[in-house]
Amino acid sequence: MENLTTQKVEIRPVRTEDLSFVYELEEQSFKDPFPNYFIDQLADANSETFLVAVYSGAIVGYAVVDDWSDHQHVVSIAVRAGFRRRGIAQALLDDLFERSRPGPLRLELRRSNHEALQLYMKNDFRETGTAHSYYTDGEDAIRMEKLIEKKTEILAPA
Ligand SMILES: CC(C)(COP(=O)(O)OP(=O)(O)OC[C@H]1O[C@@H](n2cnc3c(N)ncnc32)[C@H](O)[C@@H]1OP(=O)(O)O)[C@@H](O)C(=O)NCCC(=O)NCCS
Repeated sequence: MENLTTQKVEIRPVRTEDLSFVYELEEQSFKDPFPNYFIDQLADANSETFLVAVYSGAIVGYAVVDDWSDHQHVVSIAVRAGFRRRGIAQALLDDLFERSRPGPLRLELRRSNHEALQLYMKNDFRETGTAHSYYTDGEDAIRMEKLIEKKTEILAPA
């Protein structure tokens, strides 16, 4: 398969016209996909941190960070099968890290999801615990957290 470089992939905030493609990607990517109305709510609430990856005009990935009361939460990330292992999830996360507030960034993943575990470990998330029977089929979730550092502002000389 052609080697896709992330330079050809645009990462940008989601638009209303993208949402039907996000629903489809969510459906294809998870055993227990979020319902469409919940994805709409996430998009409404997170205009800067609900990102899509676009390749040749098509949505090939998405990721969303939601603001929770005491931290920010990676609610979902998925890359279309056939476009994986080409750095798209990494590009989405890099952009989200830039956009996230300083403080804890948390997430859950299925214990069996080795791809996601590798992705998060590579990005300095650390395991913080287990949520037993977290998913509807009874599988446990691993909880992870990464600390987003305060950004140092580089001031241009006057
Ligand atoms: C997990 C997922 C988002 C990764 O997307 P991706 O675009 O293929 O990931 P990237 O190409 O950016 O990979 C970045 C890093 O993640 C890890 N990784 C990704 N896929 C991997 C795999 N199949 N095996 C091992 N490590 C993997 C690697 O550390 C990789 O870095 P490397 O290529 O330098 O080794 C994708 O597999 C997916 O959509 N899965 C289904 C949905 C899902 O499980 N989402 C996570 C919910 S918690």
